[in-house]
Amino acid sequence: MSEITTIRPHNPASAFDIPRPPGLTWYVQSQQPVGYEVSLTRGLLNPVNPVLARAVGADGRIGVRALIVVDQAVEELYGPGLHSYFDAWKVDAVWKVMPGDEETKNLEQVVEVTRAMTEMGILRRTERVVVVGGGVLMDVVGMAASLYRRGAPYVRVPTTLVGQVDAGVGVKTGVNHGTHKNRLGTYFAPESTLIDPEFLRTVDDRHIANGLAEIIKMALIKDAALFRILEENVELITSQTLADCGSAAGEIVSRAIAGMLDELEPNLWEGVLERSVDYGHTFSPSLELLADPPLLHGEAVAVDMAVCLALAVGRGHLAEAEAHRALNLIAGCGLPLTHPVFTPRLLEVGLADAVKHRDGQQRLPLTDGIGSCVFVNDVTPSELARALAFVQAHADGPAR
Ligand SMILES: NC(=O)c1ccc[n+]([C@@H]2O[C@H](COP(=O)([O-])OP(=O)(O)OC[C@H]3O[C@@H](n4cnc5c(N)ncnc54)[C@H](O)[C@@H]3O)[C@@H](O)[C@H]2O)c1
Ligand SMILES: [Zn+2]
Repeated sequence: MSEITTIRPHNPASAFDIPRPPGLTWYVQSQQPVGYEVSLTRGLLNPVNPVLARAVGADGRIGVRALIVVDQAVEELYGPGLHSYFDAWKVDAVWKVMPGDEETKNLEQVVEVTRAMTEMGILRRTERVVVVGGGVLMDVVGMAASLYRRGAPYVRVPTTLVGQVDAGVGVKTGVNHGTHKNRLGTYFAPESTLIDPEFLRTVDDRHIANGLAEIIKMALIKDAALFRILEENVELITSQTLADCGSAAGEIVSRAIAGMLDELEPNLWEGVLERSVDYGHTFSPSLELLADPPLLHGEAVAVDMAVCLALAVGRGHLAEAEAHRALNLIAGCGLPLTHPVFTPRLLEVGLADAVKHRDGQQRLPLTDGIGSCVFVNDVTPSELARALAFVQAHADGPAR
């Protein structure tokens, strides 16, 4: 056996000049390309639409098996449609119905999915798991797929607005653990994500607003045109108009998805911690943890974005009039701007926690004018207090 003696430097970028220990060091480097499709399609459950069938490898002639993990609420509403679709395409669907609420987003649910995979005896590469549901189920099933035999193919069919513009389109999976949101998780791309706005028809107003928060985020940090479309159509955005996917609604959803993918693609594993998509996600985790009754994720993001708009005004990154426009849009979508537990002290605690998450720096994304983003690292407690006061004055003041 020949001895390999080529030793590549183990850590060439090391700041410390520590002598290499005696012996041999092998440095292994590998790259894995990641590719997946995100498709916006109408009539996903119409038996003449082949998109979902293709995603599970069915051609309508030879039977194939798939594990369909479906959100309980979605099963009640769309179960018959899903069943007839799979029957039409000769998909031998093994069903697993699961709850899709935040309280059930835990490791036990992940294990439950892997148990269903074992019981089915799912083939490792050719049989897929299909997850149909909201953001919670996307995260739970994605994590199960990433762990099962260290990675099994899966397909996402998101059925909420958050799922369709955010949780369903990236590569992050995860569950809540201890008192922390999304503390355990993985990066694991689906084979494809299939988005049909028709599912939004049955989503309630509060959950539509929840998803709009993430869309407003995209508008504020990178898409001024999307901001204008939202502003002009704010009163028309409902579960029905989104499901009908007319010109404005279609543009809103597709621009939000495109913007999200554009931001995620060069940084799928979050090697770069300055992420503009973290806008509105600095103080919100602390608020989500403390609010009682609980806030939905997008509601906490909205309150966070309001403070960030005011911070940007304070730093000269945003004209005051622009901030009022953005605050009006957030409120116009039925989202909160303030919350009783959102105090200057909580903002400080939230920022300190974000600093840990962002490896020692604030890396706080702010709007640099509507539609563009700047990162700051030196926000002070007094700025935070002034920003809160600005938002409160807007909320208490006359309509602008
Ligand atoms: N992985 C990511 O990148 C990422 C991004 C954003 C959000 N998330 C996660 O997503 C979760 C929030 O997602 P969500 O807002 O979709 O919540 P959710 O999954 O809890 O769904 C909300 C509610 O809607 C129901 N539902 C689902 N589809 C429906 C439909 N078509 N009609 C009627 N009811 C329906 C569900 O049963 C649930 O009760 C959070 O846990 C968040 O952390 C993850
Ligand atoms: Zn979010």
